[in-house]
Amino acid sequence: MVQVKVEEAKVDQKQTHLLVIGVFEGDKDFPHSKELDSTISSSIREMLESKEFRGTLGSSIVFYTLVKGSMKRIMLLGLGKREKFTDESARVSAGRATRKAQELGIKEFSILQFSNLDEGLVEAMTEGITLASYSFDKYKETKESNSKIEEAAILINSDSQRFQSVAEKSNLIVEAVNFARDIANLPPNDCPPAYLASIAVSLAQDYGLKARIIDRYELENMGMGGIIAVGKGSNNPPKLIVLEYIGVSDPAQKPYLLVGKAVTFDTGGISIKPSEKMDEMKFDKCGGCTVLSIIRAVASMKLAVNVIGIVPSVENMPSATSYRPGDIVRMYNGKSVEVLNTDAEGRMILADALAYGIATYNPKAVIDLATLTGAAIIALGANVAAVIGSNKQLIERLRRQSDKTGEKMWELPLYDEYHDQIKSTYADIKNIGGRPGGAITAAAFLSNFVNDVPWVHIDIAGTAWLQEGTYEKSYNSRGATGFGVRTLVKLLMEDEKQLPS
Ligand code: BES
Ligand code: ZN
Ligand code: ZN
Repeated sequence: MVQVKVEEAKVDQKQTHLLVIGVFEGDKDFPHSKELDSTISSSIREMLESKEFRGTLGSSIVFYTLVKGSMKRIMLLGLGKREKFTDESARVSAGRATRKAQELGIKEFSILQFSNLDEGLVEAMTEGITLASYSFDKYKETKESNSKIEEAAILINSDSQRFQSVAEKSNLIVEAVNFARDIANLPPNDCPPAYLASIAVSLAQDYGLKARIIDRYELENMGMGGIIAVGKGSNNPPKLIVLEYIGVSDPAQKPYLLVGKAVTFDTGGISIKPSEKMDEMKFDKCGGCTVLSIIRAVASMKLAVNVIGIVPSVENMPSATSYRPGDIVRMYNGKSVEVLNTDAEGRMILADALAYGIATYNPKAVIDLATLTGAAIIALGANVAAVIGSNKQLIERLRRQSDKTGEKMWELPLYDEYHDQIKSTYADIKNIGGRPGGAITAAAFLSNFVNDVPWVHIDIAGTAWLQEGTYEKSYNSRGATGFGVRTLVKLLMEDEKQLPS
């Protein structure tokens, strides 16, 4: 992946194939204009004056400079209205510049700081470039990666050391996002639960983490009825992946617990799904991929926090050995669940993983991520994740980070009444709550496996990959988005700052 650098360069002497200059709508000038070769800067001002280039959001032009010993080309990039400009617009605009450069076959470019210098701007510009340069072409003969950007620099006016270290962190975070995309995009024939487990084991080796893979027989002995039930219809046996990152050795520092749903393929099981778009259910492992990659990011930055990642992984198949509608399953925490729809499998495996993780690690907070319900898409669309939980403060922190990262999240309520919908005639609870409020009753189900620890559930069914109803964003490419990695890593980084040093 391209590593974005930050430089305090004399702009007119910068040797680069392409200099990207962001222009706000209606502006007649641009930052650093006085440092540019005077012929170039006057011709740009002429262009802005003539309104041939207006700086509207998403517009751009590229021209050759013919000035020896400096930039070969210039791109004017419209940033839209200055009042509307946010970190997310910086991310999208930097992503756009990257895509255009790649279309031109350019391998290296420089980009002027879009607006006033602060950490948020440098992070967003770095992320825009590195996220946009991703594409999944593992299975293609002609690699799109042949036209990938290899070098990119953000040119700024002061403090390059401080901002270089900001960019380095962003590079590490996006490496993790792209890692999540790479695994999530794997086809289901090449990514059974055992393969996901092997990825976790290599992560542990690379970053000095503790990994434990719990297999079918052990899961049975431990009483993980939910994971066993869902997994038993497949020839690819289930795995429970546990990764421990210890950034602070003080045992008084309770860890965060992250739990991610990893159904490597969800056919629905005996309650089989319609065949249309069933292929997209290879992305039903995205929650788990996000958790693995958050651990990777945190470990690569050596953050001073403790994080446990638990990823229950199964393949949900119909067969002679599948669990059935009507089955009653005993879960890890002793509760009984009546299965009324085998397609509501995500909550079955998350339930065991949550109860096990909380009992084993006594975490200070628990966050789970899952492509859990189609109902979350019905409620919020395909561009906003649903957040449901038991702790206002944790939800507030999450929402604040989400506003900055552009990974949109919105809270849905978990009133007591929703629990009535999952009461079962024959068991403690049932695994479906009917159509009304489907995303919420799924969370109500999960809450039966969480004690009074602060807990937040994030339903990423709509946002985990590009699907019907997804808005195009320059920095997302076809397939998995890696949604959630950046927001949760930022949340954990915030926690690190609060630790007494
Ligand atoms: N993995 C699906 C949810 C899903 C559907 C995610 C579409 C992304 C896009 C999940 O396992 C599922 O099938 N849920 C059912 C639950 C229902 C049976 C209560 C659903 O949403 O229809
Ligand atoms: Zn399902
Ligand atoms: Zn599923």
